[in-house]
Amino acid sequence: MQQLQDRFGRRFHYLRLSITDACNFKCQYCLPNGYKPSGKPHHLAPDELSRVMRAFAACGTRKIRITGGEPSLRKDFEQILELAANTPKIETVATTTNGYRLAEHAADWQRCGLDQINVSVDSLDGNAFARITGDSRFDLVMKGIDRALELDYRRVKINTVLLNGHNADQLPLFLNYIRDRKVDIRFIELMETGLHHDYFKAHHLPGTVIQQQLLQQGWQQDPSDQDAGPALNYSHRDYAGRIGLIMPYSKDFCATCNRLRVSSIGKLHLCLFTEAGIELRDLLGSDNQLPELEQRLHRALLGKHETHYLHDGDAGATPHLASIGG
Ligand code: 5AD
Ligand code: SF4
Repeated sequence: MQQLQDRFGRRFHYLRLSITDACNFKCQYCLPNGYKPSGKPHHLAPDELSRVMRAFAACGTRKIRITGGEPSLRKDFEQILELAANTPKIETVATTTNGYRLAEHAADWQRCGLDQINVSVDSLDGNAFARITGDSRFDLVMKGIDRALELDYRRVKINTVLLNGHNADQLPLFLNYIRDRKVDIRFIELMETGLHHDYFKAHHLPGTVIQQQLLQQGWQQDPSDQDAGPALNYSHRDYAGRIGLIMPYSKDFCATCNRLRVSSIGKLHLCLFTEAGIELRDLLGSDNQLPELEQRLHRALLGKHETHYLHDGDAGATPHLASIGG
């Protein structure tokens, strides 16, 4: 089967699959009032998720990231990890979590086939962490990261959303943390979503502010490998960990886009910030429909735009990133 490719020559070998839009944290920029269920949950069942993963794998996907909301809230999370790991042609299974169950379950998840973990930690100061996430379990989350390191996960990353007024001046804390820990920190520029224009105005901090500090301190940009996706990565010989910058507002950010998203209710999203999503669920009921599903993916890709329209203040239809997994 042909690889998924768009009209601009980009290939898509990375799927971000959301399995729930629910989350138990209240990050100011995402779910400031906490998660509010809208009616009864209708997320994809394991057999539907398995068909999504098999169809993408048949079209060239080699890496799957299980996202949410908070994916580990699902009771069948471990089963889903196993399904991902057992999907033919999938080489890497990753997840993004807020980390509240990591200390307890890092070993179980690894046994299920999980290779990489990204943990969202917006500050390494416990008080700031609590202020941003509305959750007081900072120590537990950090313990989880140490546990993942002990277990020798292929990669452990921390996602930090850059927030003016909360963590803009905390680079030294992060650098200190990765001096001896093989953890990659990824600073993500706050993205404007449909819900929070004022918050965005008050707290958006350009990644170039961090970039300049890194360069001044001798950090060097890694030659970008073809599979890196839109992140810029930096290394320093005195540090075990690396720093990545994700700057969606920078020029050419979208040129290296290599990912597609499927929401927890089975809609394909070609970009975090575009349309309402392309329905896949009607083709997820039986294995007989897999060829038709693959065809729909190929056809959908022809509609992918060259870039997002964030610069025009157009955040598309995405109310917050918990809804399609960031
Ligand atoms: N801008 C940038 N990053 C965000 N995330 C959630 N909402 C936003 C936003 N508006 C991040 C989370 C998590 C990842 C899945 O997405 O902090 O690390
Ligand atoms: Fe939950 Fe992630 Fe949203 Fe925070 S950013 S509320 S951890 S889904």
